[in-house]
Amino acid sequence: MQPKSDRAAWLKGGDAQCNLQPERCSDDQRRFVLLGAPGVGKGTQAELLAERFGICPLSTGDIFRASKALSAGCECSPAMLRALDHMNAGELVPDETVLSLIRERAKCLRCGGGFMLDGFPRTIAQAEALEKILEENGVKLDAVLSYELPLEQIIARLSGRRSCPQCKKVYHLESRPPKKAGVCDHCGAALFLRDDDRPEAIRVRMRAYEQSTTPLVNFYRQKGLLISINAGSTPVKTFEQTLAAIENAAKR
Ligand code: AP5
Repeated sequence: MQPKSDRAAWLKGGDAQCNLQPERCSDDQRRFVLLGAPGVGKGTQAELLAERFGICPLSTGDIFRASKALSAGCECSPAMLRALDHMNAGELVPDETVLSLIRERAKCLRCGGGFMLDGFPRTIAQAEALEKILEENGVKLDAVLSYELPLEQIIARLSGRRSCPQCKKVYHLESRPPKKAGVCDHCGAALFLRDDDRPEAIRVRMRAYEQSTTPLVNFYRQKGLLISINAGSTPVKTFEQTLAAIENAAKR
């Protein structure tokens, strides 16, 4: 198992220092985008892939949730406070806000440790901007992993989810319960239910996904980067399918 980065530069901004800093860019590090509806299991797979390949899971949702924790002490900019209102309602945050956060963190994209983008890009405009940022930084995506699952299973996953505010580990009351109820196995913090996992916010998130994010499937298919994965099995089986699909795609 690879050591774990604290993702400080991603969560706090490009000037922050991570506890693990690869010296230089290596050609064999992996660079993935994870695509799929809210609750399909992207974060869960990101955690497993990170352990396997030693690459950082970079979630835009985690940046917003980390800023929300800070906003209690009024450290958020007005743009971030508006972004958090969108997030709580289940709506997408405007592209300009998301892209300015990504540009601030371009260092994470050229990091020699590789990356897994989870929840970004989410619109065609974001995907086109990402292409440009990667080109400017001289790096390329290896693959876009697209997870698929019927809506009723997604809703069951979201309503049972519990998250750790500190180490970001994700649990499920039935399929992935913590050893002690309400407490993170990894760091001992109290688990919480996300505001946007309320039923009314879930409906808005699903609509936003259908309208804005599903076009990315064709966008990346046309670029020969898309790998589709059925997300209906257990986390470990889905992970095994993911590894096999990555290996098969590399042989093509
Ligand atoms: P974000 O944090 O990215 O949320 P999301 O995409 O909606 O995805 P989720 O984190 O809800 O689900 P997931 O697929 O990671 O599933 P998980 O692994 O947790 O974004 C939140 C918000 O921020 C957005 O709505 C938006 O407002 C804003 N935002 C973020 N990025 C943005 C962007 N680029 N542009 C605009 N706005 C942006 O799994 C779910 C549950 O299921 C867990 O409990 C888990 O334990 C369980 N589970 C997982 N896999 C399995 C399995 N195989 N079997 C059984 N249970 C499973």
